[in-house]
Amino acid sequence: MSATIQIRPLQPSDAQAYQDLRLEALRSSPDAFGSSYEEEAPIALETIEARMPSSAPNAIFGAFARTDLVGMAGFAVYERLKTRHKGVMWGVFVKPEWRKQRVGRALVQHVIDHASRHVIMLEAAVGMTNESARRTYHGLGFKPYGIERKAIRVGDVFHDEELLYLDLPRPGDA
Ligand SMILES: CC(C)(COP(=O)(O)OP(=O)(O)OC[C@H]1O[C@@H](n2cnc3c(N)ncnc32)[C@H](O)[C@@H]1OP(=O)(O)O)[C@@H](O)C(=O)NCCC(=O)NCCS
Repeated sequence: MSATIQIRPLQPSDAQAYQDLRLEALRSSPDAFGSSYEEEAPIALETIEARMPSSAPNAIFGAFARTDLVGMAGFAVYERLKTRHKGVMWGVFVKPEWRKQRVGRALVQHVIDHASRHVIMLEAAVGMTNESARRTYHGLGFKPYGIERKAIRVGDVFHDEELLYLDLPRPGDA
């Protein structure tokens, strides 16, 4: 990855940059996300700011080139007592002009490292035809455990998703 890229958790003060990048992601890669541009574009900045994870373990990691947000990846822990040993990676996106420079890999690795401190399993879902994301996730150890048929509908087209998991060492294990 380029030495000019820094990865850090986003703060409420990054809300505008986050919303801009998130909307770019939803508009440019509608097949890759469960949410849609139409649903998120009207959300007020104050709402985005209030919803941004402000305390661990939930986080959104941003990849910055100088002060520009060029990529991101989210992490959330399941909330219920019997499921909070698992987390999910969501919203992985790198601006097109920054792709194929290992930014996506670095962001996903960042999520994995962070998740390892909080959960014993990390989940993700990826479009069956999304070669760049599948390669990124598989390359970092995610394993498929199933296919969700017709997971996403974009217009009249249904997209299947591959369901992935990554076993993590228990927090505290050597
Ligand atoms: C998926 C995505 C985040 C990858 O980001 P990136 O910065 O280009 O990825 P990297 O440069 O770190 O490459 C990671 C791996 O993917 C491979 N890869 C990247 N782009 C690829 C492409 N278009 N086709 C095939 N493989 C590709 C790289 O060769 C690398 O594999 P390797 O480790 O075996 O060499 C980016 O393509 C993206 O934002 N896509 C649109 C949104 C999306 O699909 N998000 C995922 C939702 S599940």
